[in-house]
Amino acid sequence: MPERKPATSHAPGRVNLIGEHTDYNGGMVLPAALSVGLEITLTPRDDGRVEAMSNQFDTASVRPIDDGANGDWSDPIVGAVQEAARLGLSEAAHSGCTVEVHSDIPVGAGLSSSAALIVAVLKALRSDGGAERSDVDIAKDARRVENDYLDVPCGIMDQMAVALARPGTAMALDTRDLSHRLVQLPRDHAMVVLHSGVTRKLTEGRYAERKEECDAAKAHFGTDDLCLLDPDVVQEAELADAPRKRALHCTTEQRRVLAAIAAMESGNVEALGVAMNESHVSMRDLFEMSLPPIDALVATAVAEGAVGARLTGGGFGGCIVACVAESGREGWLERVLAQHPDAGYIDAAVAT
Ligand code: GLA
Repeated sequence: MPERKPATSHAPGRVNLIGEHTDYNGGMVLPAALSVGLEITLTPRDDGRVEAMSNQFDTASVRPIDDGANGDWSDPIVGAVQEAARLGLSEAAHSGCTVEVHSDIPVGAGLSSSAALIVAVLKALRSDGGAERSDVDIAKDARRVENDYLDVPCGIMDQMAVALARPGTAMALDTRDLSHRLVQLPRDHAMVVLHSGVTRKLTEGRYAERKEECDAAKAHFGTDDLCLLDPDVVQEAELADAPRKRALHCTTEQRRVLAAIAAMESGNVEALGVAMNESHVSMRDLFEMSLPPIDALVATAVAEGAVGARLTGGGFGGCIVACVAESGREGWLERVLAQHPDAGYIDAAVAT
């Protein structure tokens, strides 16, 4: 049979500037693409297998194309290939393929390494098969792989961000209808991403528990769009403590996202910082998704001069994001890391 040409694709990691756990509660999010990212090369093969190799994992995986998820690092790849087969994106999704990954997105840091891998595989198969499918559809397909194949009950933010976001801008995304627009990042400030040193995995159960608590609040109020409720109504509701607090976070977080977007569009960095700081307090006290070492890192980031800082991503570990003036960025970073030996610099989203 004739030699088949490899297809390549790229997907960035992402940091969410504000809007946490709003993406499955009818709300807005504001993620930005990072410079860390991954490239994949996908070569069709004919033995009905998926072979996966990555610079981040010592062992390559060779699996039957219809294999179920088994906890291996290659699960997102196999799941994406099966989704592509279902959609008829490419012949290689049926015949088999070799996928080589080169990534510098840290795994388990909450920077969407899994979403990036799935989106990149789907895009490579789309290009291999010459299929017409929009990036928004690819994002939805990628979410299905997370929800159904990997059994991770996530929202749509990560997939939309890694499928569509461009460096230098943030994406104001309404997760109800996926309408989105680009918002310029602050000119003389950087959105710095620091790893807290606490690793996390979405599949560890606490994300699902939070989602169930939000579902209980949705059932109580008879709406899927928790974020759109009036905080006063939620505050007064006769609802168990946990769902009430989660819903209160969602309604107030929605308002903070809108305030942050307005602040970025009018160049008001201080107002952006206030929204970020308040978001952290809400994640800590209402959504209860932070941990003491993360609170301490956020506090130091602000004490050392960030205009705002907050936990970012699914929570219970992972990264913080801090808005820091470019002029003092280096000294700020040194002072923060000196006080938090377990923390580490990952990347920064900056205006281009
Ligand atoms: C994870 C999920 C997203 C989103 C965030 C929290 O990153 O994958 O869908 O829910 O957590 O905002």
